[in-house]
Amino acid sequence: MCGIVACCGSDNIPQLLLNGLAHLEYRGYDSAGIAVIDNEEGRLRVVKRLRQSDRGMIDLLREAAAAEGIDEAISARAGIGHTRWATHGAPSVANAHPHLDCEGRIAVVHNGIIENHARLKAELVEEGHCFKSQTDTEVVIHLLEKYYDQADGDLVESVRRTVAQLSGSFALAILHLGHPDTIVVTRNDSPLVLGSYEYGSIAASDTPAIIGYTRDVSYLGNRDLAVLHGDGQIECYDPAGELYVPNIYHIEWDIEEAEKGGYPDFMLKEIFEQPQVVQNTLAGRFDAQAQRLQFDELPLSPADIAAIERVYIVACGTSYHAGLIAKNMIENAARLPVEVQVASEFRYHNPIINGNTLVIAITQSGETADTLEAVRMARQTGAHVIAVTNVVGSRITAEAQTSLFVKANIEIAVAATKSFLAQLVLLSLLALYLAQELGLLTKRKISKYYNEMCQLPAQIESLLAEESVSAVKAAAEACVHAHTALFIGRGVGASTCYEGALKLKEISYLHAEALSAGEIKHGTIALIDPDQGTPVVAVALQSATYDKMLANIQEVKARGARVIALATEGDEQITELVDHVVWLPPVREIISPITASVVLQLFARHIAVCLGRDVDQPRNLAKSVTVE
Ligand code: AGP
Repeated sequence: MCGIVACCGSDNIPQLLLNGLAHLEYRGYDSAGIAVIDNEEGRLRVVKRLRQSDRGMIDLLREAAAAEGIDEAISARAGIGHTRWATHGAPSVANAHPHLDCEGRIAVVHNGIIENHARLKAELVEEGHCFKSQTDTEVVIHLLEKYYDQADGDLVESVRRTVAQLSGSFALAILHLGHPDTIVVTRNDSPLVLGSYEYGSIAASDTPAIIGYTRDVSYLGNRDLAVLHGDGQIECYDPAGELYVPNIYHIEWDIEEAEKGGYPDFMLKEIFEQPQVVQNTLAGRFDAQAQRLQFDELPLSPADIAAIERVYIVACGTSYHAGLIAKNMIENAARLPVEVQVASEFRYHNPIINGNTLVIAITQSGETADTLEAVRMARQTGAHVIAVTNVVGSRITAEAQTSLFVKANIEIAVAATKSFLAQLVLLSLLALYLAQELGLLTKRKISKYYNEMCQLPAQIESLLAEESVSAVKAAAEACVHAHTALFIGRGVGASTCYEGALKLKEISYLHAEALSAGEIKHGTIALIDPDQGTPVVAVALQSATYDKMLANIQEVKARGARVIALATEGDEQITELVDHVVWLPPVREIISPITASVVLQLFARHIAVCLGRDVDQPRNLAKSVTVE
């Protein structure tokens, strides 16, 4: 999705903007631009470029800016930058941000969607404003232009009046020629992070853009407004116009984590970080002395937990798949009925929900619009609403009653990997915690389960060792030219397959479909083409349904499929039946998605690499989807 960087101070402003935008490239975008106030020439200077498939976008923009003298030599104390992911108006230089007003005095960058832009535009055109793009954003500039004149040059007041007219989601950074040492930012349902640093103040839509300058950051609430000054002062105002001092959060991770560190792509780096991420997510959750799991941040008393009648899990994409797996975990351990819904459907399906319902919203980014809307709706019903997220300060943390943080640290690749594994670990612990509080598991059992989970980091390490990775690569290379790939499993194995298929689709662009192995003979088996040797990835780990799984493998094999099995070490039977085997360490069935998913991530990535895809920034996708 779109990215924003804004800064003012005595630093090299163009460089700071371009470096910040480079750290937002991972979010996915089609064009980029910056605007600075040239104090010497007394005018706004803007440069924008469209993405080209063969060039790094920000390098292109850097060259273009330098060619126009927008570099360290320019006398500028304030600037704004943007990466655009088109929603209203095709990718083009005219539609790229920053946008300027009629007189060239105001520049604005915007993330989100102004839902009432058509009506506002009609009114502004009527009043004589001249629009130069097809974007929804441009209404913001012309409103600012109008209100700035009406408010006698009071920039903050003109922003307030403008924002009052807007419905929809927005994060805005505003630059005005008459205020060369100031930037005004505001937001509604679109993230914005702020901080002061040695030479001034800085804001961005996402932390990686500013982490190189400060690790002490603040977040604005919806419709709050902040004025950034070149001396590092930041004034924050709530929607009523009251000045307030924001909370400061210290970011634990550093800039190295937002860089590739020798890996060819972020996805591979993040896959290899998983042993540590799993360890971090497990840490601090078990009181060894009391032999109890602890979730002190949960706002649920023992009586609340005992009264829970039903659990709803709402999420999108990969997080939804984590929800499917968590359903198995919670139903097995805590014996509570769980319904998993894609967040975009939840509001519209009239869910059966009341004060005795626990709603768990899972979102890596904490900014997914569909999930946020589901949470808002659930809160209105009086249900207990908790979020599972990776991002401290994200929107969901303000909307849910409580947030449980997974410890994946910043995830850059668009395809979620380590955040997914961290979600699975946290949700397994939560399932066990609910069982513990409901008196369904003895201390001995809880302790045993937790200790088994503590083996996971080493088990994942073994899957990332050369021998295992080579086996995955060999299997992947045999599938590169397939037209479609099927993923089959049973129970949690089937849920694991949904995520495996999504990973393959999103980064390799191959068609893939996942289904319960028992279902394949009811229709989908028709897709198996003996001439193609259609790949079928079978999650066939030791489990209660293992024998049934073998029968399903034989069914597809008999129709000419090329079968890649994920099997438990020591399983001699399976080698006879399949074309490729990747061995996994024996783990309890209910947590097996945590290890099996690592193999499926490597499988998808290797196919994508063989096909020459942009693994980190797949086409048409964005890291956080802030529109419904
Ligand atoms: C993950 O690989 C995908 N890019 C996508 O499905 C993602 O999981 C989905 O958009 C939900 O994101 P969230 O977890 O940040 O809410």
